[in-house]
Amino acid sequence: MIADVVLGLQHGDEAKGKITHQLCSKGNYTHVIRFNGGCNAGHTIYHEGKKFVTHHIPAGVFYGIPSIIGPGCVVDPDQFFREIEELEAAGIEAESLVSIAKNAHVITKLHKEEDGKDTKIGTTKRGNGPAYRDKYDRKGLRAEDLNCFEDYLVDIYEELYSKPDVEVLFEGAQGFGLDVDHGDYPYVTSSHCTTAAALLNGVPPQAVRNVWGVAKIYETYVGAKSFQPDDEIFDTIQEVGEEFGATTGRKRQCNWMNLQDLMKAVRMNGVTDLVFNKMDVLENVGEWKMYNGDNTIDFKDKEHLKSWITSYLNFHSSGVNNIYFSGNKDRI
Ligand code: IMP
Ligand code: MG
Repeated sequence: MIADVVLGLQHGDEAKGKITHQLCSKGNYTHVIRFNGGCNAGHTIYHEGKKFVTHHIPAGVFYGIPSIIGPGCVVDPDQFFREIEELEAAGIEAESLVSIAKNAHVITKLHKEEDGKDTKIGTTKRGNGPAYRDKYDRKGLRAEDLNCFEDYLVDIYEELYSKPDVEVLFEGAQGFGLDVDHGDYPYVTSSHCTTAAALLNGVPPQAVRNVWGVAKIYETYVGAKSFQPDDEIFDTIQEVGEEFGATTGRKRQCNWMNLQDLMKAVRMNGVTDLVFNKMDVLENVGEWKMYNGDNTIDFKDKEHLKSWITSYLNFHSSGVNNIYFSGNKDRI
């Protein structure tokens, strides 16, 4: 078995959807599996000139690849069926390609009601936290417990281990900075957003080939804590970058990229392929900066930043083999 992983290295919204979509168009994947989270995620994908925002459904459906909502996920039936309908209406064959691991957990109406009252964390109010809590409290419902999911259920073991030449692309949601253990607790999501979390879906570590770590060249965060420094440059980045949440429409708070946080995410997840997205935004804004420990580094221009960060990653034995610098709508 071969497994590639796509995961976010910051606080979500790094354009993982774009990278997954592009990898699906090039690779020989037999399966695309969403490995964590629920419909708190919003993956913006441009397919043949049309914009799509998916929440549950993995990007494999755009290229006819069987796509699974993995055991590490929580699923909201309403959102699941709405999304299938929307994709089908737009001419994307989703119905026959999508399945749900029978041991994935269900987000219920009660979960959504409870999460809807959150004011402390600034959640997406999609019921994610309560659904994971009930899972770990052994009170949860699994996908196999709902009649409406009957036609979509798969057993991950049967699906991945009864055929030769299985190649899985794991599609992550959220990002390392929102990971329940490694993020800034309690301002985190309720699932794991790491390479290890992909493996928890039932794949052995030996299968892992490439780990695509996706970052933005600046950082954004959505939630209750204060993240954006008091400087109007960040309002400009927010506007130029059109930084609004794909799920909730909230303004994303912006800041320069933190290099040491990035290194931690790269190392702890074994990133082999590192993508910096939204280079075009800082180009339009006209400033190139990042934090390195207590210092702020000022770069002359884009080329200066690119060569500096490439040498830095090589010099510090980051394990990264390939680095991509990408504009919002560029292909890598
Ligand atoms: P929850 O995952 O809805 O419980 O929200 C917990 C925190 O994670 C909040 O700060 C959310 O804004 C953030 N969050 C959850 N999913 C995403 C996402 O897909 N992109 C960005 N932030 C997210
Ligand atoms: Mg998003």
